[in-house]
Amino acid sequence: MSRQDLLKQRAQQVFPRGIYGHLSTRSMPENYPQFFTSAKGVRMTDVDGKVYIDYMCAFGLNLFGYGDEEINDAFVKQMLKTDTLTGVSEVMVELAERFTGIVTHADWAIFVKNGTDATTLGAMIARAHTKRDKIIIAEGAYHGAAAWCSASPGTTAGERAGRISCTYNDVDSLERAVAEAGNDLAAIFATPFKHDVLIDQAEPDAAYARRARELCDKTGALLVVDDVRAGFKLARDCSWATVGVEPDLSAWGKCIANGHPISALLGSDKARAAAAKIFVTGSFWYAGAPMAAGLATLDLVNNTDYLEKIEGLGERLRVGLHQRAAAQGFSLRQTGPTTMPLFLFDEDPDMRMGFCWSSEMLKRGVYVHPWHNMFLCAAMTEQDIDDALAAAEGAFGALKAQRASLEPVPKLQAIFG
Ligand SMILES: Cc1ncc(COP(=O)(O)O)c(C=O)c1O
Repeated sequence: MSRQDLLKQRAQQVFPRGIYGHLSTRSMPENYPQFFTSAKGVRMTDVDGKVYIDYMCAFGLNLFGYGDEEINDAFVKQMLKTDTLTGVSEVMVELAERFTGIVTHADWAIFVKNGTDATTLGAMIARAHTKRDKIIIAEGAYHGAAAWCSASPGTTAGERAGRISCTYNDVDSLERAVAEAGNDLAAIFATPFKHDVLIDQAEPDAAYARRARELCDKTGALLVVDDVRAGFKLARDCSWATVGVEPDLSAWGKCIANGHPISALLGSDKARAAAAKIFVTGSFWYAGAPMAAGLATLDLVNNTDYLEKIEGLGERLRVGLHQRAAAQGFSLRQTGPTTMPLFLFDEDPDMRMGFCWSSEMLKRGVYVHPWHNMFLCAAMTEQDIDDALAAAEGAFGALKAQRASLEPVPKLQAIFG
């Protein structure tokens, strides 16, 4: 038995559902590895020694490459001085100054651990600011694994009662949701673009973003952009800067310290009094080492051409994949920004083609995701893209050979349930 299979078997005993949450490979093609030993740059090595170019980048945590030396040095230096102690390190002030210096709408920061902490704080502050309950969230948008924004078993209807749905990019539906909230609207939440799982991604419609801003201004509600996933992958600012809209609050996480555990809620002065009022804290929120890693990451965001680089690489991948798919008679829909692409096949309602192609990519040393957006990172090179394209050519060929006999994929397990 491979080390991978052995660990999967052991995991069944000691973790609910084997492995839980978004890192579980239960809803991936059979051959996807679950356990890894190391990673450097864009390559990760599984427990059986197989190496993959990783187009998931730890679900967007890895922006400058696994094990980036500058960032890790900063982390280790701070760790050797101190990490968490009875007070806080001065690096916390420096990080807040640097972050609010980069993100235009932001005047203050609160550092937390996970993206869910940041979005949950956003909801609390909006409710404290407005003394109202209702929060508008687009259908299918993910804002974290907390009762106020999840539908998981174990949450109650009461916990969801403050939530009103709208359709992303649909101004009429947003206006209907605001009308439904009446005079009880606390916030409109928005992801920077539609990056829901299993479906085509959609760029934000500037008219929708502007209308969200206007409706918040009109009603006194707060506009919250959830940049946890897309932050710094579209702009060196809050992502809705790309459509000319400034929120009152923005939630950040994942890549802001290149994978070290820290997330943040940033806010404008308008929301400062409410943010000062609420009681929130966490034992590990004040750890200095991830903050030092955050500072080093923000320096790279500010001082390198990482964004232009990943946009260019993403474009090279998109064009190359399009050509290779078309050459073998496939229509591959590539949606989302080039830095965070999602690939779905036409005429593949149950994803059997997507599963087969992804599995064939994996066999050729490229880790792609069949139904979640992927991520490019600044450690990638044109050669990595060309390697993926060469793998794709083989994978399209293998898919063509198997197409007629593909079995339906087992019903996708709800990963967030
Ligand atoms: C848009 C968005 N918001 C919030 C979260 C929650 O972040 P975390 O998993 O760090 O709690 C995620 C995580 O994937 C996300 O993509």
